Amino acid sequence: MCHPCGTIATRSTMLNGRLVGLRPTRTEDLDFLADLANLDQVRHNVGGWHWPVARETQPEWLRRSQADQTVQRLTVADPVTDEPWGLTGLWEIDWHNRSALTAIKLMPGAAPRGAGSDAIMLVMAWSFYDVGLRRLHGSILPFNTASLGAYVRNCGWRVEGRDREAVFRRGEWHDLLRVGILRADFDALTAAEEYVERVCGPATSTIPGQSGPGVRLAVAPDGLEGAGAITGAGTARVD
Ligand SMILES: CC(C)(COP(=O)(O)OP(=O)(O)OC[C@H]1O[C@@H](n2cnc3c(N)ncnc32)[C@H](O)[C@@H]1OP(=O)(O)O)[C@@H](O)C(=O)NCCC(=O)NCCS
Repeated sequence: MCHPCGTIATRSTMLNGRLVGLRPTRTEDLDFLADLANLDQVRHNVGGWHWPVARETQPEWLRRSQADQTVQRLTVADPVTDEPWGLTGLWEIDWHNRSALTAIKLMPGAAPRGAGSDAIMLVMAWSFYDVGLRRLHGSILPFNTASLGAYVRNCGWRVEGRDREAVFRRGEWHDLLRVGILRADFDALTAAEEYVERVCGPATSTIPGQSGPGVRLAVAPDGLEGAGAITGAGTARVD
């Protein structure tokens, strides 16, 4: 694959987007992930809270995470150099209801503009067309305009509810927005087909009437919706 900068992409990532690659988190990422977890700029903006992370505890943390069937962590990486840029994945995977929590953290200044939306589109295409889920959910602090821009404005997510004064940050209480997306919402995005191909490869069948994102791509994503019923999703630590 030719990269815009002229170098050859290594294709060592599992899922390749327009700007980012996603691959399973591995030992070499652990120092980076500890630094990301401890960064105030990131900790302030995410719904979950955790104690400061020591680098020495990271191998055990990854081992436990890899044994947990309800979690799949993915490192967001530079598709050319494979350098880690951030973390995303699935948490609270619920096979009965075919849903999962997802979230994303990027190291400030590391990834190009648009990397967040690209990674979110990849996670959705992977979850809905490879893993087999039909709903993803998450939470966003109302002041996190970048996250609202990426999930809601760019990637078709809806605000489904608001937990009042649920999160304590910098000595103050903040509401927490509950956000979610269904596979049908994803299918309505103009870029859905492209991302399904990025994840699953080109369609091998052209059976007339076959359902999939390719037949319903003309609808624009919905914008921010007003607060409604609370979805019941937790504020799990997602790191
Ligand atoms: C949230 C996050 C993943 C977004 O990544 P990103 O690469 O900046 O996202 P994108 O550029 O794809 O999309 C963000 C959108 O919000 C806009 N945006 C960013 N900051 C903004 C601000 N302060 N005010 C208004 N809009 C803003 C961007 O312009 C972009 O919109 P556009 O595509 O129309 O230009 C990244 O900022 C991050 O990791 N932050 C720290 C951790 C975090 O907050 N995680 C999410 C927890 S819910």
